[in-house]
Amino acid sequence: GAAVTADISKLEPGQLIRVEWRGKPVWIVKRTEETLQQLAETESKLRDPGSEVQQQPAYAQNQHRSIKPEIFVAVGICTHLGCSPTYLPNDFSAQVEGIRAGFFCPCHGSKFDMAGRVFQGVPAPTNLVVPPHMFIDDKTIVVG
Ligand code: FES
Repeated sequence: GAAVTADISKLEPGQLIRVEWRGKPVWIVKRTEETLQQLAETESKLRDPGSEVQQQPAYAQNQHRSIKPEIFVAVGICTHLGCSPTYLPNDFSAQVEGIRAGFFCPCHGSKFDMAGRVFQGVPAPTNLVVPPHMFIDDKTIVVG
């Protein structure tokens, strides 16, 4: 399928932009230092913290599930029944105590951390999908 190019030169910490790839929404998020640090704090609450179920390319099989720690790319579709989760950059702690930012699916309440890793006790079976992607330069990502 056709690859999609995104300009991330204006992306601010905490901001999420959407592009469309193969008819699917793809998120590109610039994570803050705080949300990167919280990736360690969520691990004990996750279903698959090491992303053993392959939902990402090999180069994104790490704690932050990305090439560069601060830039997270994910298909914005819940792995339960396909709704699009809501990005909560500041008020996710109402969903998971002590965790400021994450993704919440309004359809049946699935919760994902800032690496798209699913929390325990929700219907979504797996982490969000990280699509194939690469950096052309510091400002440009190609998805696909
Ligand atoms: Fe997201 Fe069901 S579709 S929780």
